Amino acid sequence: SLLQPLSATLSDAHSETENVELADLDWDNLGFGLQTTDYMYVMKCPHGAEGVFSKGELKRFGNIELNPSAGVLNYGQGLFEGLKAYRKHDGNILLFRPQENALRMRMGAERMCMPSPAVEQFVEAVKETVLANKRWVPPPGKGSLYIRPLLMGSGPVLGLAPAPEYTFLIYASPVGNYFKEGLAPINLIVENELHRATPGGTGGVKTIGNYTAVLKAQSAAKARGYSDVLYLDCVHKKYLEEVSSCNIFVVKGNVISTPAVKGTILPGITRKSIIDVGRSQGFQVEERLVSVDELLDADEVFCTGTAVVVSPVGSVTYLGDRVSYRDGVGAVSQQLHTALTRLQMGLAEDEMNWTVEL
Ligand code: COI
Repeated sequence: SLLQPLSATLSDAHSETENVELADLDWDNLGFGLQTTDYMYVMKCPHGAEGVFSKGELKRFGNIELNPSAGVLNYGQGLFEGLKAYRKHDGNILLFRPQENALRMRMGAERMCMPSPAVEQFVEAVKETVLANKRWVPPPGKGSLYIRPLLMGSGPVLGLAPAPEYTFLIYASPVGNYFKEGLAPINLIVENELHRATPGGTGGVKTIGNYTAVLKAQSAAKARGYSDVLYLDCVHKKYLEEVSSCNIFVVKGNVISTPAVKGTILPGITRKSIIDVGRSQGFQVEERLVSVDELLDADEVFCTGTAVVVSPVGSVTYLGDRVSYRDGVGAVSQQLHTALTRLQMGLAEDEMNWTVEL
């Protein structure tokens, strides 16, 4: 058939990458910590450039210099993104929906009064960064290269105002599982005092301050043995919002529900992908208000995020009472985790056209 010669040509073309040189690392024991890599990508939008970023460049990974009066340092004018690259068995590398990260950064930049790179500029920069750090992309099945784009007000300000200059930077680190539990279910505590976001605030964008705001509750929870914290809406203290580092889903029968994104919840790319994957697998997926009562009454609960992928929740503790779901990974969490990661790793056919091959 016609397919035969084509696939033969493809595998010839990739044969040199099959024996690609890998960095010297203990690939079997990756966690989610910074392992520095060779290069970072830097691109600037200078004062007077009318929001246009000039051509960026790869630099050796290292410290950056900032004016002490930089907007990001003084007033938190900063955003970040997160995405992953997986190495396939043929040696090629797959990115998962990088355009979505580019678009989300543009939305966030609008809220934070920052210019942001064009979608093509962003995606090109991600590709260059990954290729320059190719030897740090873990072997298939061992993890992924986590890519961290940053956008910050790097120009000096003193009075409160948008910074005059912006820096876009990407660095990357090989990672394994986010939670120390690995794929085992995590234990969450519902936070009833502190809140992550307020209506009209910045909870719906990936600004750096959102992640500082949760450190206090997260540290207290970790000290008490919980994996992470689940936040409630600040008006009624009744509806689920998200976990410090990921979105949340509850399963009841064939219905999978997740809080709708209305400005206080981060519109996760894994969240959005799981909604589509769930529907394509025959589940009824609802985006709406989800109450804490439904959480306690669920058959199964799981979290989604780029870093956490799909993490099953073993128990939630609310106002001192603990509800345990099950000991192993719930069937729905397992099914969705498998479907998503097979796509991300290039093991399943990419019917949605979500992956970008390098
Ligand atoms: C991600 O999942 O990529 C995030 O940005 C969450 C972060 C707390 C690791």
